Amino acid sequence: MEKQTLSSLFSLLFLFLLPLAFTGVQGIKELYGVYNGTAKLFVFGDSYADTGNSPVSLAGSWKQPYGVTFPGKPAGRFSDGRVLTDYIALFLRIRSPIPYKWRKYVNKSKLRYGMNFAYGGTGVFNTLVDQPNMTLQIDFFQKLIQQKVYTKQDLDSSIAFVSVAGNDYSTFNAKIGNQTEVPAFTKSLVNQISINLKRIHDLGVKKIAVTGLEPLGCLPDQTFASSFQQCSETPNLVSKFHNQLLIQEVQKLNLEKKTSAFFILDLYSAFTSAISNLKNYTEQSKSVNPLQPCCVGTSEGFSCGRVNEKGEKKYSVCKNPEESIFWDLVHPSQNGWHSVYLNLQSSLHQFY
Ligand SMILES: *[C@@H]1O[C@H](CO)[C@@H](O)[C@H](O)[C@H]1NC(C)=O
Ligand SMILES: *[C@@H]1O[C@H](CO)[C@@H](O)[C@H](O)[C@H]1NC(C)=O
Ligand SMILES: *[C@@H]1O[C@H](CO)[C@@H](O)[C@H](O)[C@H]1NC(C)=O
Ligand SMILES: *[C@@H]1O[C@H](CO)[C@@H](O)[C@H](O)[C@H]1NC(C)=O
Ligand SMILES: *[C@@H]1O[C@H](CO)[C@@H](O)[C@H](O)[C@H]1NC(C)=O
Repeated sequence: MEKQTLSSLFSLLFLFLLPLAFTGVQGIKELYGVYNGTAKLFVFGDSYADTGNSPVSLAGSWKQPYGVTFPGKPAGRFSDGRVLTDYIALFLRIRSPIPYKWRKYVNKSKLRYGMNFAYGGTGVFNTLVDQPNMTLQIDFFQKLIQQKVYTKQDLDSSIAFVSVAGNDYSTFNAKIGNQTEVPAFTKSLVNQISINLKRIHDLGVKKIAVTGLEPLGCLPDQTFASSFQQCSETPNLVSKFHNQLLIQEVQKLNLEKKTSAFFILDLYSAFTSAISNLKNYTEQSKSVNPLQPCCVGTSEGFSCGRVNEKGEKKYSVCKNPEESIFWDLVHPSQNGWHSVYLNLQSSLHQFY
């Protein structure tokens, strides 16, 4: 019962990971001059970035049909395949950094690509999922530095990728729910994000990318009510307000630290463009609704990956995940992440 409840929370709330932008290796090399395959990537956040930290016993990401496209079986990613972290690593010409959880079990040489501290379902603050919030994730990182697992020189050519996809908002809605108080909550959330970014920078990481909030109202859990026909305006306004405050905060940080160390990956525009590009495509082919997730529960209370007591599947998977943007109720498919990445390219160029 406990387990059932937790795992349904996982699939419902867990949504979020986060996408970075890839410019193509050449572009990044110009930007930083260090991305020659020797950079390290340190990752913090939620399911938009997690590549295996969430516990096998709890997380849907370890159940069929997650991972069906890549690596071919469930492997802890909240998608049918690659997530944003993997694309960022690809762009840096390194392997996707190993999940923190595995650090003691792998050959030490595997630590050289950095480390992924992200846990699905978590937030900047504590969420309904009992897994390390971002503060604790940064504590783990700090400890490894104190233990000299990573040296100052390592950190000099590192980048951090920070995903904040919205679990704090689902937790706020579940626990408080008073919409009048959302703006004040956003302020405290962005303030804590700022503290976290500053801390990562003070630990020695020179470049830090943080995600802007995706259009929450376009996620399938919000478009469900309209049979996935249209995005929901109110949650999108929350995303916009959040992003507005985040932009101000990041500008302030760069001024304070006299750097351009901090930058925002604009997931809002990237998701919106990915959706509208597919819309245009499907207007011709008439096959795919871009807001429709590939994997959905077949009856009430069930979601992607859930089975009943008899072990019968209570979900269905679309025929061509590579034509979808969304995999489940809150997570992009590998194809969705790829489109998001393509849409982030030009904005990355603008940043620099
Ligand atoms: C990669 O770039 C870094 C920083 O510029 C440099 O220290 C390192 O030697 C380079 N490595 C290779 C293999 O070119
Ligand atoms: C660890 O990996 C390195 C480089 O791939 C290899 O030379 C070494 O033998 C490995 N060590 C162990 C204990 O497997
Ligand atoms: C993170 O989690 C720890 C342990 O539950 C808690 O003490 C701390 O207040 C949390 N941090 C934030 C910013 O909520
Ligand atoms: C919601 O929050 C506002 C502002 O704090 C408060 O005035 C109002 O009474 C709250 N509403 C409910 C139903 O608690
Ligand atoms: C989609 O098509 C509409 C109408 O032809 C056009 O205005 C819009 O720019 C297109 N969107 C994209 C992302 O190409």
